[in-house]
Amino acid sequence: MQADAPPSTAAPTPSVPATASMGRGVPPDQGMGAMHVGWVLAGALVVLVVMWAMAQRSDLAVTRLAGDGPLQALGPSATQALLPLPDAPVVPADTVALGERLFADKRLSADGTVSCLSCHDLKAGGADGLPTARGVQGRTGTVNTPTVFNSHLNFVQFWDGRARTLAEQAAGPIQNPLEMASNWPDVLAMLRADPVYVVQFQTSYGGDMSPQTVTDAIATYEKTLVTPNSRFDRYLRGQGDALTALELKGYRSFLDLGCASCHQGVGIGGNLFQPFGIFLTRPVSGAEPPSDLGRYNVTGQASDKGVFKVPSLRNVALTAPYFHDGSVPTLEEAVWWMGRAQLGRELSSADVAALSAFLRTLTGEWRGGGGR
Ligand code: HEC
Ligand code: HEC
Repeated sequence: MQADAPPSTAAPTPSVPATASMGRGVPPDQGMGAMHVGWVLAGALVVLVVMWAMAQRSDLAVTRLAGDGPLQALGPSATQALLPLPDAPVVPADTVALGERLFADKRLSADGTVSCLSCHDLKAGGADGLPTARGVQGRTGTVNTPTVFNSHLNFVQFWDGRARTLAEQAAGPIQNPLEMASNWPDVLAMLRADPVYVVQFQTSYGGDMSPQTVTDAIATYEKTLVTPNSRFDRYLRGQGDALTALELKGYRSFLDLGCASCHQGVGIGGNLFQPFGIFLTRPVSGAEPPSDLGRYNVTGQASDKGVFKVPSLRNVALTAPYFHDGSVPTLEEAVWWMGRAQLGRELSSADVAALSAFLRTLTGEWRGGGGR
């Protein structure tokens, strides 16, 4: 059975094709089909699953705003669900400079063509704009590239949370055959042959060049990749006119509908694992690419199938396409699917427009650049 089409209402309602893959499976332009047949609304299970989901998160106590109170009531005192971006951690400048150089150095890849920056473009929201990543020799990865901005706020790294820290994460792409496809002996030999790196490692790590110091330097640099001063942060910090009436309506809906029960905290996400498709059944056929299994790939627990780290929504307007498989091209469609998959609701075009307008206020500044 195929997904129903979204409400056929006027722009800016998303026009989700009936074949949209809802963040599942491979995007249509990868030529591997679209909607998994078998993804159906799980009518009778819905109530039980909601209760289960709520029980899981009962500690979160997202404030529901009663009635139509004044919009000012949406300030920081109204809820602690979403919190302003903290200042960047203070880290040593020399190590940041080393990490920045490593981050942009294509020689860390097998054929010298791909750096961290190739996929995490800091001028494009810290991601690559592709459904799934493209590594050395055009090799295509299996999941969508998340932003590196504010990633130090994530409680774990990767969609499936398989790295606990940024340093642990950084070792992944260097050795991933679909990304940089290199190995530590080659990387360390390259670094040792570069007199500038020799001096930099001397300054930061007393000359120790090792996987630990390389990944530590990259992680140290990444801690500076924060995007302060989004309009939403300005609003939370007391600038009442930082958001328009539509954006405030979207913020209210984000709290009232329960989006904030998953996307919450300083990262507006990035601090929980949750199933994707709480209100959708899993494919009957079981024909699911391993990358759709999420956390299950780490734990091997059946209950972790289809469980992912809830992504941070900071700068989400800059990081299309969406979901772990990059299958959904627009923010409006992603919001519409969230209503359906995570809340069991068909969001109206007005809800989608307001929520999307609110999400666009989460775009911060990078090195003072307007909105990115
Ligand atoms: C070929 C493209 C590509 C390259 C090169 C690459 N990344 Fe990534 N990055 C990705 C993809 C795809 C993911 C998500 C992988 C997953 O979750 O399984 C990711 C995830 C991450 C994350 C976790 C973000 C989150 O929200 O979970 C960080 C941090 C990161 N990369 C930093 C780096 C660093 C540092 C380098 C260089 C050492 C690098 N990346 C190189 C594509 C790339
Ligand atoms: C039950 C938890 C939960 C709820 C409730 C929820 N989300 Fe999500 N959200 C997720 C998870 C998990 C993902 C990642 C899904 C995937 O790609 O596998 C996600 C992804 C997203 C994305 C795509 C982000 C990206 O970078 O690809 C957007 C946008 C989003 N959610 C917005 C919302 C909005 C708006 C609401 C409320 C209407 C909402 N979410 C409600 C858990 C939730």
